[in-house]
Amino acid sequence: MTIDPRTLVDAAIDAMARAYAPYSHFHVGAALLDTDGRIWQGCNIENASYPATMCAERSALSAAVSAGVRRFAAIAIVGGPEGILGGICTPCGICRQALSEFCAPDMPVYLGHADGITTLTLGELLPYSFTLTDKEAKS
Ligand code: THU
Repeated sequence: MTIDPRTLVDAAIDAMARAYAPYSHFHVGAALLDTDGRIWQGCNIENASYPATMCAERSALSAAVSAGVRRFAAIAIVGGPEGILGGICTPCGICRQALSEFCAPDMPVYLGHADGITTLTLGELLPYSFTLTDKEAKS
């Protein structure tokens, strides 16, 4: 399953519009493409108890996995203060680890920014990751 990166980044921008970020004012959106071509969106959801905050990437992953979807082809991520895009918004360490549970190291990660899209792979973002060796446990 492939997609025009611009389409997936636009879906992430759409999701970012629903960010709940009254504390940091940093809005993030993610769009996760599954292997059937469906797009799962997520935004950051902050909390007065700051550590309870959910990042956009894990919001998207939670939506998909909760619907029974576990195979993914790409993810797009955008973010910026009050939703204004500047530079790239790279996923935090926890989100990289969470994605690595379900996504292959060669999965593209499209990082939308003010001047276009930077493409990396999950493996580049999280080398030598800790994952289950028994992949059958996930299927
Ligand atoms: N955030 C994400 O949504 N994803 C990341 O990978 C990095 C950080 C959110 C969490 C918080 O609501 C805001 O960005 C500032 O840290």
